[in-house]
Amino acid sequence: MDQAEKLRNIVKLQNQQNDRAARVITVTSGKGGVGKSSTAINIAMQFRKMDKSVIIFDADFGLANIEVMFGAIPKYNLSDMIYKGKDFKDIIVKGPMDIGFISGGSGISGLGNMDRDQVGYLVYKLKELESLADIIIIDTGAGISDSVLEFVTTSSEVVLVTTPEPTSITDAYALLKSLGTRVGFEKESTKIKILANKVSNYDEGRNLYNKLNLVVDKFLKIELEFLGIVPVDNNMSKAVIQQKPVSMLYPNSPGTKAYEEIAVALLEDREGKDIKKKGIAAAFTGMFKKTQ
Ligand SMILES: Nc1ncnc2c1ncn2[C@@H]1O[C@H](COP(=O)(O)OP(=O)(O)O)[C@@H](O)[C@H]1O
Ligand SMILES: [Mg+2]
Repeated sequence: MDQAEKLRNIVKLQNQQNDRAARVITVTSGKGGVGKSSTAINIAMQFRKMDKSVIIFDADFGLANIEVMFGAIPKYNLSDMIYKGKDFKDIIVKGPMDIGFISGGSGISGLGNMDRDQVGYLVYKLKELESLADIIIIDTGAGISDSVLEFVTTSSEVVLVTTPEPTSITDAYALLKSLGTRVGFEKESTKIKILANKVSNYDEGRNLYNKLNLVVDKFLKIELEFLGIVPVDNNMSKAVIQQKPVSMLYPNSPGTKAYEEIAVALLEDREGKDIKKKGIAAAFTGMFKKTQ
């Protein structure tokens, strides 16, 4: 049994005892630069407007983009909590509208070498995180890495961001293909929702979904849902330069309106279908894989 498997077992036991886990939404994509971090931040803002407490976890370890978009630089990250005795209150920085933000830090791959006590401690701490927010949004890196696939495998709810660029669609397909053959991935316990970003109108987004869904259904037998679209909105790039979310700077911008609809759709789904929750600790099991 490897570390990840041991952790999965601990997490399973804990989740049986606690069914009030925070909702975890993992935002991912096949290709970089398609709008994952923009999505994470702006749906977080919209959830806040609906009175939900939100924490964003930046698991895109290479790039510090959430902190740049947020204008909030954390002093400590997740590894400081495990190895240096820091608490969530030390590693969570508050951004606009009181949205919490945690940085995974760049040394996260070192987590694969934790001993049993450290793993137990992390799981215990992650459970604490669930009482600190209603919704936890994980912003993953792009592409088919082990860590991205593990976050997706262990999440109940995934937002897969795609743009009309051909490479964005083929990379999204490639990600789903790897997912389909991954040990531990169960189609029925992970909902994958397609967000069509940077489209010129609704129909273009819907067609993008239809095309992807057709091949994914045929060759991978994975079910995809259509979450919605975000149009090309120049205010989004302007917002990045100003280090503030578009939802905050331009409340009437088309992008802001689109994120509002998407946040509503996500919340409504919860009420409608009762997603099987796996909790935040489950989403972290991928970090316990030994890295070479
Ligand atoms: N709907 C959109 N319209 C215009 N620009 C966008 C849109 N979505 C994202 N962008 C811009 O694209 C760039 C990449 O977005 P980002 O969210 O950082 O992508 P990722 O996290 O997937 O790498 C940013 O400059 C962002 O402002
Ligand atoms: Mg990003």
